[in-house]
Amino acid sequence: MANTSIEEFCRKLPKVELHAHLNTSFSMTFLNELLRKSGNLNGVSLEDLHLAEAKPLAEGFAIFSKLHQVFRTEETIYQLTHSVIREFAEDNVKYLELRSTPKHIPETGLTRDIYMQTMVRAVQDCQKEGVDITVRLLVSIDRRQGVEVAKIAVDLAERWMKSTQGLVIGMDFSGDPKVGDASDYIPVFLDAARRGLKLSLHLAEIPLYKETKKVLQACCGHCVLRIGHGTFLHRYESNQGHEEIEDLVVQWKIPIEACVTSNILSKTVNGPGSHHFWYWHRKQHPVILCTDGKGVFGCLLSDEYYRVAKEFSLGREDLVSMALSTFDSIFESDDLKQRLRDILRSFCEKEQVAFPNINTSKEKMSTYCCV
Ligand code: IMP
Ligand code: ZN
Repeated sequence: MANTSIEEFCRKLPKVELHAHLNTSFSMTFLNELLRKSGNLNGVSLEDLHLAEAKPLAEGFAIFSKLHQVFRTEETIYQLTHSVIREFAEDNVKYLELRSTPKHIPETGLTRDIYMQTMVRAVQDCQKEGVDITVRLLVSIDRRQGVEVAKIAVDLAERWMKSTQGLVIGMDFSGDPKVGDASDYIPVFLDAARRGLKLSLHLAEIPLYKETKKVLQACCGHCVLRIGHGTFLHRYESNQGHEEIEDLVVQWKIPIEACVTSNILSKTVNGPGSHHFWYWHRKQHPVILCTDGKGVFGCLLSDEYYRVAKEFSLGREDLVSMALSTFDSIFESDDLKQRLRDILRSFCEKEQVAFPNINTSKEKMSTYCCV
């Protein structure tokens, strides 16, 4: 066996990142460089832009607003997207689904369309430069902006999906879970799915059983779906009377994007040992470790793997199995899933770690909520 520590192994492991918000995924190196070039960050200080210790969820949202003051022009959105992609690639992320809320900022000339065009250009430039990562984009709906803006986002996403031959692949639903009701957006979700967009929905980040149940009852079977966070989906906590939620998640095998550091720093979970990641992983339900915002929460994806490995005493083979299991949940084709498996297989040969036996039957290949 190659002589690498588990921490180093987590870094080298080929991974997929499925839950990363653009504006919260900056690196400190990037911000320092931006500060050096522009002289200031539109009045925002560097220290205000990340959570150094656990704080209530609301504090995170205060940081997100400050970030939106910093990233306001086409140029910064381009540079941010480009650097975020490069940084994930350096962390051996081989496939990234990057999400962002298109901004309309008349003072800087930014429109939602230019915002999308800029992200797409950065992805294509990284591709041309040979950055070793496949990137797909999700258009975010911010639940603070209401249903009418969400409809604009669906039109935008569909247009960009068509004009980029699927580089834009789906939609994210996010924003402060205390604002509005996710079930108001059900017609928007169904419309997006009808147009061929895949959906990743922030659900049950806090205990909101009613809206979670309504959304799942309406969308399961009609959308290709993943759940962001899903902290309060499972029934073992104070979830009595809402068992249908877990039943739907299990029945439709809806993948859960687990953001361990983000949840701990936002105080929705007490510590890594009590994170719902483990509950779903033990059930062999699809669950994917993700960063959420590697800048705000100060974590690389490899840190997330290492954190879980330490907490649950996982070895190299466990980590390989875990990474392998995440590939089925990407919003891309079976061919791309197979390419990721091949990359992981080569890595295992190099690291002299056994590659798990996988059943690549049709049933195994298309695992979840697809219609
Ligand atoms: P952006 O969409 O690229 O601007 O990324 C930041 C945005 O993502 C925030 O303003 C929120 O709308 C959303 N976001 C980031 N983290 C979370 C989260 O933990 N819960 C809900 N929404 C989030
Ligand atoms: Zn998120």
